[in-house]
Amino acid sequence: MNSVQLESEDGVPLAVALSERVHWVGALDPNLRTFDIILKTANGTSYNAYVVRGSEGVAVIDTVKEGFANDFFARLESVADYAEIKVIVLNHLEPDHTGALPELMKRAPQAQLFISQKAQSMLKGLLKQDELSFTPVVTGDKVSLGDRSLEFLHTPYLHWPDTQCTYAPEEAMLFSGDVFGCHFCDNRLYNDKVGDFRFSFEYYYAHIMRPFKEYVVRALELIEPLPLKLIAPTHGPILRDRPQHYIQRYRQLSSPALHNELRPNQKTLLIFYISSYGNTRRMAEAIYQGAMQIEDVRVSLYDLEGGEVAPFVDLIEEADGLVLGTPTINGDAVKPIWDLLSSLAVVNLKNKLGGVFGSYGWTGEGVRLVEDRLRGLKLRVPIQGLRVKLIPTDDEIHECKAFGLELAQELTGARESRVINFADL
Ligand code: FEO
Repeated sequence: MNSVQLESEDGVPLAVALSERVHWVGALDPNLRTFDIILKTANGTSYNAYVVRGSEGVAVIDTVKEGFANDFFARLESVADYAEIKVIVLNHLEPDHTGALPELMKRAPQAQLFISQKAQSMLKGLLKQDELSFTPVVTGDKVSLGDRSLEFLHTPYLHWPDTQCTYAPEEAMLFSGDVFGCHFCDNRLYNDKVGDFRFSFEYYYAHIMRPFKEYVVRALELIEPLPLKLIAPTHGPILRDRPQHYIQRYRQLSSPALHNELRPNQKTLLIFYISSYGNTRRMAEAIYQGAMQIEDVRVSLYDLEGGEVAPFVDLIEEADGLVLGTPTINGDAVKPIWDLLSSLAVVNLKNKLGGVFGSYGWTGEGVRLVEDRLRGLKLRVPIQGLRVKLIPTDDEIHECKAFGLELAQELTGARESRVINFADL
C-alpha cells in the first residue's frame, strides 16, 4: 500500500506521522502551475509544515500559504491543542510559509516565536504590528521541549536573507525550509513513495539556490556533520530514504568544476559576439588575439549565431571575465545578446570583469546599453566599451587588440591604472 492517509473518511484533513513525536501538518496545492510568476510547477507543489511534540510542550515549524490555512489548522488540531503550543519556528518568512502565521499566533498567543536574526525586520513588514514578541536565534541556539529539543542553524540567503534550518537531535531530523525542497505535489509524501521528482529537485536548485552557491556551501558545512534520519523541507517530498544523497547532490551542484582544469592563478575570459556583416566578428577576433598575449589568461571565443544561449550559462558562472560584442540595430543591441544576459539571472556575477564592443552604422547605442546592463548585474566594467563605425580599419583592429590585452591584464592585475577623461564617457 503506497498511499498515505491525509484525510479522515469524512474528508477532514489529518496530520501524517513522520515518527511518534513528529507530524506533517502541511497542505497540497496540486493545481499550481507557476510559482513566483516564473517557476514551472508542472504538477503543483506542497507547503510542508511540521509539529514536534516534547514532554513539556509542542513546537510548530513553519506554516502554509494563506489560502491553505484551513488544511493546516485541521491537521494541526488533529495532533495538538493550541494551548500546548509552546514554540513556533519560522525557518523562512516568504508568504508561502507564513500565510497562516497571524491566525496561529492568535490561536496560540502563549507560544514563543523563533526566527533568524535577519528575519526581524521582515517579520515586522509582514505582520504590520508594532508590538511583536519574538526571539531571534543564531547557530548553536537551542530550545527545549522537555525530552525533545530544537537547534537552530544560521543558513542565510537560501534563498532569502532570513532563511535558517532547524534540527531536532533526538529525532535526527532536519527541518530545512526551502533547502532540499522542490515543487512537486504527490499525496504519497515520502521520497521513496512518490513519482520521479528528480527533474523538480534539480530545477528547483537551478532556479532558487544556484545564485547563492557560496551560501549553499556554508550551509552544508553545518548540515553535513549532523546525524540524519530524515530531511523535512517546506516543499515537495519528505526525504527519509537516503537523505545524505540529497546533501551530496547539493555539494556537487554547488562545487565549481572548472577550477580543476586551470593552473594556479590562471584566469578565464570568455568573449561572445554576434555579427551581421562580419564587422563585429573581426573586432571579436582581434580582441581575442590581444587577450591571448597574456599567458595566465585562458581566453575563449564564441559566436552566438543560432541564438541558443543555455549551454553558456555554466561557463559564464565560473569564468572570471565576460566580454560581449554586439552590432547596433534600430538603436539597440541584438536579441541573442539580451537573451544571454537574461539567462544569467540564475548565477552570481558579482565582481566578474565585464567588457563590451561592437560595430555600428549610425548611432551605436548597443554597446552602451549592454555596458549598463553588465553594471546592473554587478560586473566590474573598468574599461570603456569599444565601438567602431562599420568596417574596422587597420588602426581600429589594432585598437581592438589593445582592448583585449587590457582586459586580460585587468584580470591578472597587471593593467596600469590611467586617468579617465570624463568627457569621453
Ligand atoms: Fe517556499 Fe522561499 O518560499
